Amino acid sequence: MSAGNVSSVKIVGVIGVGTMGRGIAQLAAQAGLHVRLFDKDAAALKNAMDSIMSTWGKDVVKGRMDTTAMQRAQTRLIAVDRLAALADCDVVVEAIVEDLQIKQQLFVDLEDIVSERTLLATNTSSLSVTAVQSACRLPGRVVGWHFFNPVPRMKLAEVVQGALTDAVAVDTLMALTLTLGHKSVRAKDMPGFVVNHAGRAFIPEGLRILSEEIADAQTIDRIMKGVAGFRMGPFELADLIGLDVAQTVMESLYHQYYEEARFRLHPILGQRVAAGLLGRKSGKGFYIYEDKASLPPPSGIIASETSGAAACPARDVEIAAMPVWISPEHADLARSVVERLAGLSVPLEQGGRPSSDALILTTPIGADATSTCLALDLDPARSVAVNALFGLDNHVELMRTPATRPDAMAAARALFERSGLEVSCINDSPGFVSQRIVAQIVSIGCDIAQQGIGTPDDINLAARIALGYPAGPLDMGDRLGAERILAICDALYETYRDPRYRASVWLRRRAGLGLSLNHE
Ligand code: NAI
Repeated sequence: MSAGNVSSVKIVGVIGVGTMGRGIAQLAAQAGLHVRLFDKDAAALKNAMDSIMSTWGKDVVKGRMDTTAMQRAQTRLIAVDRLAALADCDVVVEAIVEDLQIKQQLFVDLEDIVSERTLLATNTSSLSVTAVQSACRLPGRVVGWHFFNPVPRMKLAEVVQGALTDAVAVDTLMALTLTLGHKSVRAKDMPGFVVNHAGRAFIPEGLRILSEEIADAQTIDRIMKGVAGFRMGPFELADLIGLDVAQTVMESLYHQYYEEARFRLHPILGQRVAAGLLGRKSGKGFYIYEDKASLPPPSGIIASETSGAAACPARDVEIAAMPVWISPEHADLARSVVERLAGLSVPLEQGGRPSSDALILTTPIGADATSTCLALDLDPARSVAVNALFGLDNHVELMRTPATRPDAMAAARALFERSGLEVSCINDSPGFVSQRIVAQIVSIGCDIAQQGIGTPDDINLAARIALGYPAGPLDMGDRLGAERILAICDALYETYRDPRYRASVWLRRRAGLGLSLNHE
């Protein structure tokens, strides 16, 4: 086969019929390719064939596939009982156990069976493609082809170029991915490739926030959905993936990058795993699940995660006559607070200094509530920080200093609730909850671009499709403003002096020059 010529790919071999292999086989047969499916476990192979046929049957009943298309796909998919039956394949993809030596041996065996033109692909998610191909006689035809679970619905594959992979082999799999109806992104063979690397801020930063009792897990999840527009919060996601699986993947990336501080986990996760709190699959993780299969909100929260967190104070507060001073420090954010509160007929003070009994609202970007008060010489007892960076449309984060009086916090809560917003109250934190998680996502996305692991377009696309983020990391940064994301990273670094928060140089340079984060 001419590796750059996708039209010559007619027959695909799939090895391994677990979650991934059966999904890839189904997808390829539906797309018109002839598929030979093999597994060393004959019973598993039969079960996978039955399961794919049953999926197609259901698709026909639901009108997602017509009967003729199903019959054609059925005839294209064949189970084979020997590796040797893959001899005529143009591409063979393995989705077997995640073990380097077993994968290497499989490819060595395959090289004695298939033609020299056959491409060999590995669906590995955490092994080095270079290490897999190093055992092969013709390593140039070995490519990473990383699909996501569930394969038919997660419409993306990363095509990974190992150190010895021929560019033309990558081009062929990029094009072949498109013929399967998926998007493809090109990734360098670095730990985590693009997707698993880009996903390394969300849960770890959520854990870090939880560990400092800035907010409880439920509040952090609510904020990431309501304020930052994510489909689920970090703890809902951890429960869905399984805490044990999340821990293994994240620790692997951390160690593969030689203990990179950005990827460091908090021990909270390991402790929960040790306690058997694995998430949905065990009925308890960060939340309690009465029905493991259902996706609606979980039925309760594990008690240990609520202690010490910043509960919102009582809402039955009289606000009518109370003057409210809004810090003009960030004029556009101050304006959005004024607009939000304008209809409440409370006296709004702007400019100058707050009057002696005014509630003080600040709108920091990156800075915590305490350092904002200190920098602006404001009375911390009456001060509440408002996160207006994401707009004030649905949900607002309110942050207290350690000195903020409960009645000031209660008044701020009442104001924003009466203006029609959902309110979450948190303890003092540089960057609130949403600013810091998003800034970490953007900074890590920038670092992926800086290392050339993926192009900006591919990083954005991959995060939207495979991670379900509301926007790609670099687009997210552009929307909020690169210099503002940099300010959040710098404030985090200034507060913690932890290299975890050092801003990516890609971010720093583009923010400094006023360029888009997508600028290559
Ligand atoms: P799985 O454990 O569900 O299935 C593996 C299958 O491979 C089993 O049916 C087993 O009998 C078969 N197998 C093992 N060794 C074999 C050999 N030497 N020859 C033939 N068949 C063999 O695995 P799963 O979850 O489908 O993962 C497969 C690969 O895909 C792994 O490399 C994994 O890292 C990767 N991956 C998994 C994802 C997931 O969400 N499960 C996502 C993306 C990649």
